[in-house]
Amino acid sequence: MMTQLLEYGQEETWRSWLSNMESYSCVVLCDTNTFHHCYPKAQAEQILPQHHQLIVVPAGEASKSFEQVVQIVEQMHVAGVGKKSILICLGGGMICDLGGFIAHIYMRGIQLAHIPTTLLCMADACLGGKNGIDFQGVKNQIGSIHHPEAIWINPAFLNTLDERTKKSGIAEMIKHTLLQSEDAFDHACQLPVNAFYDTRQILAGLRF
Ligand SMILES: NC(=O)c1ccc[n+]([C@@H]2O[C@H](COP(=O)([O-])OP(=O)(O)OC[C@H]3O[C@@H](n4cnc5c(N)ncnc54)[C@H](O)[C@@H]3O)[C@@H](O)[C@H]2O)c1
Repeated sequence: MMTQLLEYGQEETWRSWLSNMESYSCVVLCDTNTFHHCYPKAQAEQILPQHHQLIVVPAGEASKSFEQVVQIVEQMHVAGVGKKSILICLGGGMICDLGGFIAHIYMRGIQLAHIPTTLLCMADACLGGKNGIDFQGVKNQIGSIHHPEAIWINPAFLNTLDERTKKSGIAEMIKHTLLQSEDAFDHACQLPVNAFYDTRQILAGLRF
């Protein structure tokens, strides 16, 4: 299955994709921070279906747990979420990992979409279908591969990130260029100043 990767400027394509899904019920999964910072924006910009069930979990890695999975599945079950429903993850890597796992196991798999709200998630975690939860202190010990039908990327969500989370996203991007090739790294060094940092300076500082 091909994931549709849509970004800022392609709102109409995203909305039309969503409207084709309108006949299915929809669950939107947020954490407490993305509920506060991103959900109102997503609602205002009409990138969520008009009718949806909202589930909010505590922010932080601790929510990638079996206990949280059980609580979410219970809420979906009680709300009558069915096989033809779609789960939309509105959050960073934690929400996408947790939501992706639930979308894979609930009724043997329901449809999934990601709206990543951190740089790390936009650059990495929302892509490739990997999901998972932590178990007994081991990160991503339990998980699966379940590809999203679509991903909506809007860099405007990044405006409310704290410094630490921004830096962690930049570090992830640098890692990817280093893993890819020297050319990719050189190309990244030429990128214009981004919204937060002078990417060229950070990358140049890494040369050895
Ligand atoms: N599946 C994959 O391929 C993959 C790849 C890399 C990392 N990961 C996973 O991703 C997770 C880390 O991702 P992350 O750094 O995005 O962490 P995260 O999702 O925990 O987000 C970091 C913090 O930023 C907050 N936040 C998110 N978006 C915000 C916004 N727009 N404004 C304000 N606050 C916001 C969150 O509530 C949280 O407190 C880890 O669990 C890691 O295992 C998965």
